[in-house]
Amino acid sequence: MNDKKRIAWCITGSGHYLKESIEIILTLKNVDLFLSKAGEEVLKWYDYSLEDFKSKGIKVFKDITSSSAPVSLLYEGVYKLIIVSPTTSNTIAKMSYGLSDSLITNMFAQAGKCKIHSIVFACDTEPTVITQAPKKSVTLYPRDIELENYEKLKKFKNVDVVDDVVSLNKALGEWI
Ligand SMILES: Cc1cc2nc3c(=O)[nH]c(=O)nc-3n(C[C@H](O)[C@H](O)[C@H](O)COP(=O)(O)O)c2cc1C
Repeated sequence: MNDKKRIAWCITGSGHYLKESIEIILTLKNVDLFLSKAGEEVLKWYDYSLEDFKSKGIKVFKDITSSSAPVSLLYEGVYKLIIVSPTTSNTIAKMSYGLSDSLITNMFAQAGKCKIHSIVFACDTEPTVITQAPKKSVTLYPRDIELENYEKLKKFKNVDVVDDVVSLNKALGEWI
């Protein structure tokens, strides 16, 4: 494994598995954060400060350009792995249909085109999901379309789609 290369960790606007994702991020030495616009907002909802990440030497890239300029780092060979975790049903839908109209969907699409491996932690993977809203737990019932998009993404080459923290850690373990 090339240890000089970094991991690009993409956070979308999901409260589900946000805490668990951040706990893993903080154990990694060679990671940069990429945030969707909603991801940046949701971090605030759950009382996370970007300054805390930056103080630990983690670079933070926000979704502020129409062309998703930070994807050029993929062309420069900076990253060995892309992780999208947690992933909203919105981003799963876009990725599974090949759309790239935001920083995170562009990171995923361009990683695929550069043959860089991706790990995607999908949240809406079962008919019933208990999720953590900012102030309480909520039970949600993902629709058929969300479950279909998840199944569709699982067929992508060079992509591990995981649905729990144990599988995420296992997939990640091969790269660190
Ligand atoms: C507090 C909060 C928590 C949210 N949690 C989730 C979630 O767990 N899963 C999800 O699919 N969307 C969730 N959303 C909605 C997404 O943020 C919204 O669909 C957004 O457009 C997703 O954009 P993105 O996929 O570009 O990050 C949440 C929104 C808020 C305000």
